[in-house]
Amino acid sequence: MKPPAEAAAVFGGRLELAERFAQWLLGPGLTRGLLGPREADQIWTRHLLNGVSITGLIEPASVVLDIGSGAGLPGLALLIARPDLQLVLVEPKVRRVDYLREVCADLDLPARIVRARATPGGLVRLPDDATADEVPLADVVTARAVAPVAELARWAKPLLRRDGRLLAIKGDAATDELHRDRAVLTRLGFRDASVLVVSTSVDSGPTIPLTTATVISMRLGGVSRET
Ligand SMILES: C[S@@+](CC[C@H](N)C(=O)[O-])C[C@H]1O[C@@H](n2cnc3c(N)ncnc32)[C@H](O)[C@@H]1O
Repeated sequence: MKPPAEAAAVFGGRLELAERFAQWLLGPGLTRGLLGPREADQIWTRHLLNGVSITGLIEPASVVLDIGSGAGLPGLALLIARPDLQLVLVEPKVRRVDYLREVCADLDLPARIVRARATPGGLVRLPDDATADEVPLADVVTARAVAPVAELARWAKPLLRRDGRLLAIKGDAATDELHRDRAVLTRLGFRDASVLVVSTSVDSGPTIPLTTATVISMRLGGVSRET
């Protein structure tokens, strides 16, 4: 499937790599049941570009830990667009971990893949996790379509450095979800929780429509930047 004009602007010289990732999603991603069959038509907008739309919220050279990467979203889309990031993919399901290892080997993407379950007590490593060493504290934890935001915050807390940021990519119900869970987030020590509608920060000109994503963003500890 031909990438939309936005993809060329977002991925630049790495568009071919992004196209090869799209082929993985449309091929093994679909046949192995990691994505639903109805996702094929929306692979660029709903998946690759949606995943990468948070790129403007992530500082250069950040350690990014993606909880529940599944077929590699948003993590691998981000790493393709932002090779400066140090990416850790956390996924408990063995078939998904195998798929992620195959994709990263084929596309030569330097992501660290950890077979583990995120819990309030930290990562619980599962059998056949090939990475024995410690996972660094993250500057940013990402998650898309994994769990309610209060649960994500419980899981992200032990994984984030102080002042680190949780970015939960959500759908239209993000505002209601934040309203419901705000007190829990505050109790957990998060601050500045807000709903952001973001798009890829490219100089696209007026003719290229941009994909947007709705994100619940918050920071762990430290001093509030809210006025
Ligand atoms: C619906 S899929 C979403 C996958 C991907 N983030 C996406 O947006 O396409 C949810 C993923 O979260 C993973 N997951 C569920 N609970 C988890 C946990 N406690 N820690 C890490 N991953 C988890 C599942 O194995 C699954 O791959």
